[in-house]
Amino acid sequence: MAEVIIAADEAEGSQLAADIVASLIRAKPGTVLGVATGSSPLALYERLAAQKHTLDMTSIRAFALDEYVGIAPTHPQSYRDALRRTFTQPLGLSADAVQVPDGDPETLDRAGEEYEQKIVEAGGIDLQILGIGTGGHIGFNEPGSSLASLTRVKTLTPQTRADNARFFDSVDDVPVHCVTQGIGTILRARQLLLLAFGANKAAALAAAVEGPITSSTPASAIQLHPFVTVMVDEPAAQELRHADYYRYAYIHRPS
Ligand code: GLP
Repeated sequence: MAEVIIAADEAEGSQLAADIVASLIRAKPGTVLGVATGSSPLALYERLAAQKHTLDMTSIRAFALDEYVGIAPTHPQSYRDALRRTFTQPLGLSADAVQVPDGDPETLDRAGEEYEQKIVEAGGIDLQILGIGTGGHIGFNEPGSSLASLTRVKTLTPQTRADNARFFDSVDDVPVHCVTQGIGTILRARQLLLLAFGANKAAALAAAVEGPITSSTPASAIQLHPFVTVMVDEPAAQELRHADYYRYAYIHRPS
């Protein structure tokens, strides 16, 4: 079962999540992280960056979960540029330490396979940081995604485009396609850390953690992974049936 940690608020959850990532980096120089974009991991990245003078992060490498198709890598809403601003630069990493799927429409037929190959060549992902979409997606694996899928092109749901419209001038500017790590790719990571903050994530989070494992809720695939931490705040936890047990288990976690 996933370990579910219910933090008082996003700030505390992000700090606890940063502590998990930092202790891995400390234990394993050259850690390979899987990094999510979106708002959920932003405070985690800030808290990691705050440790850069006491924790040597120069040897870590990272792989983004996903990228939009058809917006230039330098576009501020490309995930490549978003990660440069929020992760690569604040942590003091070199640009080539962070790989992002290639969303160039001209080379899409190769994008998935090449990305998988790069992950394999890096020795696999040690820890994959995940957010969750309000429709239950991880990465951009929308409902119906194969639980064995690898990196490939996907079509975004209207709901995902509406959710992400806040980063663009209008919903019409949100790309329709993306290249995303597959659920199978995500499950190959050695450790998963899923972050969910806010009441708008409560239903998807409960379905992912406690519902049946189904491609209708792609995030439910995390139940198949042996080493998962789910970090949530109180509003995101409000639909969890076993919230009291998770709190109890956290207090009494084996040392
Ligand atoms: C986005 C991204 C995911 C992200 C998720 C949640 O569309 N493709 O990688 O984790 O949906 O986003 P947010 O953290 O902004 O709520």
